Amino acid sequence: MPTTAPWQLPAGVDCYAVVGNPVAHSKSPRIHQAFAKQTGQSLVYLAQAIEPGDFVAAVAEFQRLGGKGLNVTLPFKLEAHALCARRSERAEQSGAVNTLWFERDGRICGDNTDGIGLMRDLTMNHGMAVAGRKVLLLGAGGAAQGILPALLAERPAKLTIANRTFSRARALAGRVPLAERGMIDVLPMEALAGRAFNLIINATAASLAGELPPLPDDVLHRGGDCYDMMYADEPTVFMQWGLRYGAARSVDGLGMLVEQAAESFYLWRGIRPDTAAVIKELRQS
Ligand code: ATR
Repeated sequence: MPTTAPWQLPAGVDCYAVVGNPVAHSKSPRIHQAFAKQTGQSLVYLAQAIEPGDFVAAVAEFQRLGGKGLNVTLPFKLEAHALCARRSERAEQSGAVNTLWFERDGRICGDNTDGIGLMRDLTMNHGMAVAGRKVLLLGAGGAAQGILPALLAERPAKLTIANRTFSRARALAGRVPLAERGMIDVLPMEALAGRAFNLIINATAASLAGELPPLPDDVLHRGGDCYDMMYADEPTVFMQWGLRYGAARSVDGLGMLVEQAAESFYLWRGIRPDTAAVIKELRQS
C-alpha cells in the first residue's frame, strides 16, 4: 500500500515535478518556474516527497494523470535508471537517471544531466578547467557516480578518486570503461598526504552535516581550485578549507544545480534558458 501523498496535478497545463526524499527545501520548482517565465513557456513544476518503496508506483501515477516529466533526486536515481525503457548514452554510462519523460507509446525515457551541469558550471561559469589537470574527486556515492563519465570526457591529466570507505572508491573506478582506466587512480584518504592536485571536487555528503573529509593540508596546489557539489546559504566547510589552503577559487554547487535543471528543461521543452540570470537571482535571495 503506497504511503506517499497522492499527486495533485492542476488540469489544462503541462506538469513537471521533482521527486525524492527529502524535497521540501528543493530549489528546483523555483528554478524551473523562473526558466518558464523567462522563455514564455506555460507549465507548472511541483515537488513531491516519495516514501522508500513507492517510487515506481508514484511515477506510474504521475504518468497516468498526464504529467510530462520528472526530475529525480536522492535516493531514487538508480531506481529511475532501472525503470527506463530507453536511456541516453550519458544515463547509460553513469548508471543513474535524474530526468524522466514519457513517449507517446507510454515508454519511460531517462537521461542524466548532472554531469553536463557540473561541467558547464565548472568550465563556463567559473573558468575552472578539467582538461590536462590533476583532479581529485572526493566521494564514491551516487553523486560521484553521476558525474564521473562527464569528468573523464574532459580528459584530465589524472583523476584520483578518494573516499572514506576505500572499497566504494574501488567499486566506482571499476565502472569506468577499460579504455579510460589509465586516467584513473584510486586512493584511500590517508594516502593523499604528499600529493597535490589542481582541482578538488567534493562529491561527498560531508558538507550537508557541516563536516570535512579528512584532507592533508598540502593536497591542494597553491592557486588550485576547489568545487563543492553541495551548496548552502553560507560558504561550506570545504569551501572555507580551500580558501584557507590557498585556492584561487573555492565555490559551491549552486550553479551546477541550475545548469543541470537547464539541461532537463531543454530536454522537455526544446528551449535553452539563460542560466546566469537565474543563478544571480538565487544568490541574491
Ligand atoms: P550521494 O548520492 O549524495 O553521493 P551516498 O551514496 O550516500 O550519497 O554517498 C555519500 C558519500 O559521501 C560517500 O562517498 C560517503 O563516504 P562513505 O562511502 O565512506 O560513506 C561520503 N561521506 C558522507 N559523509 C562523510 C563525511 N563526514 N566525511 C567523509 N565522507 C563522507
